[in-house]
Amino acid sequence: MAKKRLVRPHPSRAGHRSGETLRTLISQARLRQRIRQLAREIRRDFPNDSLHLIGVLKGSVFFLADLSRELGGEVSFDFLAVSSYGKGTDSTGEVKLIKDLDVSIEGKTVIVVEDILDTGLTLKFLLRLFEEKKPKHIRVVVLLDKVERRIADVRADYTGFAIPNEFVVGYGLDFTERYRNLPDVCVLNLGARAKGKAGA
Ligand code: IMP
Repeated sequence: MAKKRLVRPHPSRAGHRSGETLRTLISQARLRQRIRQLAREIRRDFPNDSLHLIGVLKGSVFFLADLSRELGGEVSFDFLAVSSYGKGTDSTGEVKLIKDLDVSIEGKTVIVVEDILDTGLTLKFLLRLFEEKKPKHIRVVVLLDKVERRIADVRADYTGFAIPNEFVVGYGLDFTERYRNLPDVCVLNLGARAKGKAGA
């Protein structure tokens, strides 16, 4: 009997719509390698601490999952959600807490895990919130940093990649909830139909 061939959509086509184009900026292999280095840097700074990772939903989920497995030692994690972007690609500048932490961070070595640092308004809001809760240490790790776009006076302690001012998707990052499942970080261009939006 002839075997049925399993046909899977290519991951680079995840959620792809006509008119939109994707260009790989950081491949899966480079992400993996850099995340391993970031984990080493963090562990070198806190060799014996139990690290409490706080992931900012939803963009940081893959980054947190991969980073936490490279860290070794004692690690726990929690998540919170904020909204700073609507359905498009431009920040409204307004940050709201949508989901708070589940457990106290008092006395803990906290590592805030962010997908991307853009204007910095989200991180500024979060750091103010966390500092009131009296952690032992608080450090920030971001995978991507759009340095040019900074408005708020904040910086990450550990940065994966400095990137140009382009709208990126993949590896957790979305455009209107699509493209999070792309394995690479890609620049999204919406084409002629969306002037003023991502990469247009
Ligand atoms: P900030 O407050 O302007 O620094 O924005 C941080 C948040 O905006 C990130 O956590 C992302 O959710 C979102 N964001 C910023 N730039 C991009 C991008 O290029 N692609 C997807 N999301 C982005």
